[in-house]
Amino acid sequence: MNWRAMRNTHFVAPTFAVLASLALISCGVPSGEQVNDPPLAGASIGGPFTLVNSAGETVKYSDFDGKYRIVYFGYAYCPDVCPTDVQRLTQGYNLFAEAEPALAEQVQPMFITIDPERDTQEVVGEFTSAFSPKLIGLTGTPEQVKTAADAFRVFYSKGAVSEGGGYLMDHSNIAYLMDRDGAPLATLPVDLGPDEIAAEIAKWTS
Ligand code: NI
Repeated sequence: MNWRAMRNTHFVAPTFAVLASLALISCGVPSGEQVNDPPLAGASIGGPFTLVNSAGETVKYSDFDGKYRIVYFGYAYCPDVCPTDVQRLTQGYNLFAEAEPALAEQVQPMFITIDPERDTQEVVGEFTSAFSPKLIGLTGTPEQVKTAADAFRVFYSKGAVSEGGGYLMDHSNIAYLMDRDGAPLATLPVDLGPDEIAAEIAKWTS
């Protein structure tokens, strides 16, 4: 309707659900049998990246091998969706951690910027620390960020620059839960709320 709403569209890719349902069909599971495969099992999502954390240290995806990961791409200057999603994610993680404190230590939430032009390591650090000390903020060169976003099938593009120099980013707002090997398990329902997010984390971790 207005300019801002038009420019700030967040895209949710429907393809994963489609792929997951196709995968289930092709498994030929007899009707009535319980299907326990994670929704994103076997999807080629996630992959190697090299980024920089808020302390300026190089961080690789493989640094988290052995841990589950929650991965969300967004940007610190996002006026609405990213802060809402990240707040729900961290609240969901905290609920899960209350119920499963030891297991929660094995789940690493991370926020990866798709706006490296403005989201310096300091800006990313300020953004993530406003939500949770557990949340790692990552940025990098435009090339490093592109590599990471592509690996997670995340779309982003820069909107028109206003007279004041500000701009919005169009981007996918998908929160992934990844396994201890870095492979995808499920998306987390950031459109719902902390209870649903905590339940989904609990469902696929052990
Ligand atoms: Ni956003």
